[in-house]
Amino acid sequence: MTEAPLGLLAELTHRCPLHCPYCSNPLELAGRSAEMTTDQWRDALSQAHELGVVQMHFSGGEPLARRDLPELVAHARGLGAYVNLVTSGVGLTGDRARALADCGVDHVQLSLQDADPARADRIAGARVHTAKRRAAQAVLAAGLPLTVNVVLHRANIEHTGEIIELATALGADRIELANTQYYGWALRNRGALLPTPRQLAVAQQAVEQARTRYTGRGPELVYVVADHYADRPKPCMHGWGSRQLTVTPTGDVLPCPAAGVITTLPVENVLRRPLARIWYDSRAFNAFRGTGWMADPCRTCPQRHTDFGGCRCQAFQLTGDATATDPVCTLSPHRRLVDALLTEDAAPDDTSQPAFVMRTQTAS
Ligand code: SF4
Ligand code: FES
Repeated sequence: MTEAPLGLLAELTHRCPLHCPYCSNPLELAGRSAEMTTDQWRDALSQAHELGVVQMHFSGGEPLARRDLPELVAHARGLGAYVNLVTSGVGLTGDRARALADCGVDHVQLSLQDADPARADRIAGARVHTAKRRAAQAVLAAGLPLTVNVVLHRANIEHTGEIIELATALGADRIELANTQYYGWALRNRGALLPTPRQLAVAQQAVEQARTRYTGRGPELVYVVADHYADRPKPCMHGWGSRQLTVTPTGDVLPCPAAGVITTLPVENVLRRPLARIWYDSRAFNAFRGTGWMADPCRTCPQRHTDFGGCRCQAFQLTGDATATDPVCTLSPHRRLVDALLTEDAAPDDTSQPAFVMRTQTAS
């Protein structure tokens, strides 16, 4: 039986002052005029609540770009939801952080690009590092818990130790270091982002040293390994259509933030169909629920209830078949595709840093 979702990722806007090349937003970004209105978002949040959602993550793009953010936060809080703000921190002044806390934000997730300001600004494609440091202070002054999250890739992964030190000094309660997931702009930049095995070893060692140093004190440290280098895939989304749904700036409803890449799936929209019907009845959400859709080797594999066959988006992007075993799995007949990427894009002794294609948006 299909259970109700726990979480909603509300991508309020694709607008963002940063241009990060590792962004998982789609290459075709929605402009301001295509975004749902305040009333439409309020209705979508109410529908999510009625469906059973208890955690609402306001994200983007940069959610602070929406002037109605306080109103939407207050609406979510009024529904009894736990409200998480996922932000670059640009524009998060002390006043704004206090106002958002008063409206009902429960937690802030702040992104950093690197520890060194010049390197960080180069990755962001904008001079924002100093503003982010101030934003961290504003979050703490507003009495909110702070998670610092950093997407790791070839240009910053060797500075993992410095990044942990900076996030700790900024007062983070939790540090999330996640290797890049290759969707959207990150897929476009995969050749410039894939770390080398030596770099991964450096990062792993820095994480272990920090864990030893901060045992029993300091922030919680979460490190998400680079799945291209793993033998088994990540349990993506804890299973398709099982816990969370994403609503995009235009109202499209997706089983995962990247699901738009699976061009064989029909995309539903909350402006045209009730959210509950989309969650329970739509073809898109039912396509890979459970294990019945699996082919060999997943179909009979004891791991299938643990990793759910891996990531459907990655399977589609690499094989053209969304029902295929995630090629990261060494039991997949397509694992050679991942090995070829590692050989071509991240040769063991390749220390070069190819140019990024920065995330850009055509105004509308
Ligand atoms: Fe997971 Fe499928 Fe690989 Fe088994 S064969 S480990 S279920 S991806
Ligand atoms: Fe879509 Fe993994 S990112 S299923």
